[in-house]
Amino acid sequence: MNEQQARALIDYYFANQPASWITYVGLVVSGVALVISFGAVVAIDRQTKSSKSATDAQTRSLVEQHIRVEWTGILDACMQHPEFIDTDFTFGFSPRSPVLNRVYQAFCYKCWSLVELIVAEKLHLNNPYRSMVYWAAAYHRDWLQANPYMFSSPQFWEVHDMVRNTPLTLFREMFIPEKDSKPAKPNSDRYTDAVDWDKVNMEYSRYILGPFAPEMTEPDPKNGGKIRNLLITKLQSRGADLRGLRVVDFGCGPGNLMPHLRGLIDEVHGVDISETALELAAQSAKESGIKLIKHRENMITFRDSDRFDIIISVNSVLPAKREDVRRIFTAIRDNLRPTGKFYAVLPAFDACFALYEYWRSSYEAFSNDKDYVDRCAEAFRIATKLDEKTMSYADDGVHPQSFHTEESIREDFGAVGLRIVGTPQKVKYPWEYARRLDYGYFPNKPEIWDWFVEAER
Ligand SMILES: C[S@@+](CC[C@H](N)C(=O)[O-])C[C@H]1O[C@@H](n2cnc3c(N)ncnc32)[C@H](O)[C@@H]1O
Repeated sequence: MNEQQARALIDYYFANQPASWITYVGLVVSGVALVISFGAVVAIDRQTKSSKSATDAQTRSLVEQHIRVEWTGILDACMQHPEFIDTDFTFGFSPRSPVLNRVYQAFCYKCWSLVELIVAEKLHLNNPYRSMVYWAAAYHRDWLQANPYMFSSPQFWEVHDMVRNTPLTLFREMFIPEKDSKPAKPNSDRYTDAVDWDKVNMEYSRYILGPFAPEMTEPDPKNGGKIRNLLITKLQSRGADLRGLRVVDFGCGPGNLMPHLRGLIDEVHGVDISETALELAAQSAKESGIKLIKHRENMITFRDSDRFDIIISVNSVLPAKREDVRRIFTAIRDNLRPTGKFYAVLPAFDACFALYEYWRSSYEAFSNDKDYVDRCAEAFRIATKLDEKTMSYADDGVHPQSFHTEESIREDFGAVGLRIVGTPQKVKYPWEYARRLDYGYFPNKPEIWDWFVEAER
């Protein structure tokens, strides 16, 4: 931080006049603290330059000591304001409380100034300083993106971009909302209730990586100019042939499928346990010129005596308990007419495992120390509850869900009497999209995917 930047900061505070005297006092205190902090940095800087007799080691130790003090201050602030480590608050922080917002602004400035110092001292490649930089990027990047003018050093931005694009930032911080904040327990019935699907569905694209994002539904030059979502390609290829058929979407969510059925069918059934999902799906259907017939039911027990010509299910067969996978597929078979077709996009467990290996290789690129690499890879496995036995994975680190592999799909479909048409195919997610939801960014590795499957009775 140079003097000009410190002045810019102080100007910034005075341009944003506080509303109450408490805020005013708060800002003056933080302004003074920042000036003192600026003074400390300058003092260190001067000492570094002027004290020719001091050894490099002594100078480094002084800087490191200053960083530790600053870092402790940042952690203290987080303990005082737990919102500062809650991404619901820090991502696109909303002005729920103007006072708190201003405190957060000052906090972020302090935090990124520390990063700037770490970078200027070329410490950002060494732990623990490296972790501090990643921590700042994981929690507080939105503020920085909104306030880029405070940091002008090209090295600072180079490091920021590098960190933003690399996986260490990314034990996902965006938890899926839970009902009544009940802790989710793997392999327990309570789990399905623990996910607050109503809340998830209200902000679907914020929480879930899925094949209806624009990246997946528009022709993509990186995918040979083709649409990535193979379900849409399939439905479009059937075209007019769909008209008049009885169609249902199992786990319809907020109706992301509806716009893609526009002009192809007039009426669709939606099954979902979430009332909010069904309301949103009905709205989406209406906007797409389609009538939605709502069924607020559990897919496992849902039976319709008329049955369906087409059952669609996109990323909805992901129960907490493995044995429920076959119970859902059984319900799908029972609801399918003899000539009917089942089109599914199923969350891929092998993609989660690939992700684990990508992370491992990124740690290997960073360190030759096998113990360190093992520890980091294991931390990823634990943080995502990656379990090969039950093929479950918690992409938010809290809610384990049963996923699928090509082999498990063949076994489960065979066991319930569903015959796979052709072979399961990968619906691949571009890295730029996967990165947005904190899955990592490994542009030199194969893209992660879900499985598209077509089946009949
Ligand atoms: C990940 S979302 C997928 C939504 C939609 N198919 C899409 O791809 O955009 C999963 C949906 O399945 C619903 N769901 C999960 N388990 C269910 C169950 N056992 N019965 C009915 N709906 C369920 C949830 O409420 C949620 O809306």
